[in-house]
Amino acid sequence: MSSDVAPAARSRYSAVAMLLHWLIAGLIITNVWLAWQAEDLHGAAKMPIMQWHKTLGISILVLSLLRLAWRLFNKPPPLSPDLKVWELWLARIVHWGFYVAMIGIPLTGWLMVSATPLIKVYPIHMYGLFDWPAVGFLSDLPRDQMKATHEAFETIHKLAAKIMIYGLFPLHILGALKHQFLDKDPEFARMIPFLPMRK
Ligand code: HEM
Ligand code: HEM
Repeated sequence: MSSDVAPAARSRYSAVAMLLHWLIAGLIITNVWLAWQAEDLHGAAKMPIMQWHKTLGISILVLSLLRLAWRLFNKPPPLSPDLKVWELWLARIVHWGFYVAMIGIPLTGWLMVSATPLIKVYPIHMYGLFDWPAVGFLSDLPRDQMKATHEAFETIHKLAAKIMIYGLFPLHILGALKHQFLDKDPEFARMIPFLPMRK
């Protein structure tokens, strides 16, 4: 059995890990909702929603990098010793899949919007306060290369978002519900501070 599975100690994630988990989860869900609202709009009507999508997306990128750094330097609580091997591996794949998504999706969004001439007219305006820089060399590519680069990052952005929404989300939520209600482990209490840790 691996070192992150301990028989006795059953504890919670740290306050910082819980705060970042729920803050980032809320922002991601809001950002997916914003993207879906924008899908049927065109031209000027789409702009304000997309500015919020980009602002929240860049905030998710920064918070997720902080969260990853915290995770690498602070060991998470040991997983339940009652988990079967396949459950352990699935939990690990979903958790690390989320880290890849939380960083990779906003990063490809940033690269996508950097590779378009529009970025010089409509920069990423964060909370209406300041401009987030574009990835400079992408905005200076020759037109046809810029278009191909934009389309490549757009394809990855959309595909990765779909994998997260239709793959990682359901697996994560069903897994948490299974451990809480079928296995009767205090699963939610690991991530929610005011719930009791007792079985
Ligand atoms: C966008 C939404 C979400 C994302 C990106 C997300 C991401 C994550 C990640 C990466 C971890 C692993 C933390 C680590 O070990 O560093 C985690 C753990 C956890 N999440 Fe979420 N989560 C989301 C939504 C939810 C929801 C809606 C629930 C409630 C059902 C939930 C419940 C939990 C629980 C209970 C854990 C602890 C798992 C354990 O180690 O036992 N999460 N989440
Ligand atoms: C975790 C953060 C993010 C999530 C979950 C997310 C998710 C999505 C989703 C679900 C779509 C719609 C995909 C579709 O139509 O199939 C989308 C579109 C888009 N996203 Fe993001 N995104 C994020 C961050 C960003 C960032 C940081 C930027 C740019 C700075 C960005 C720029 C865009 C653009 C421009 C589109 C529209 C593409 C089009 O014209 O159809 N996104 N995003």
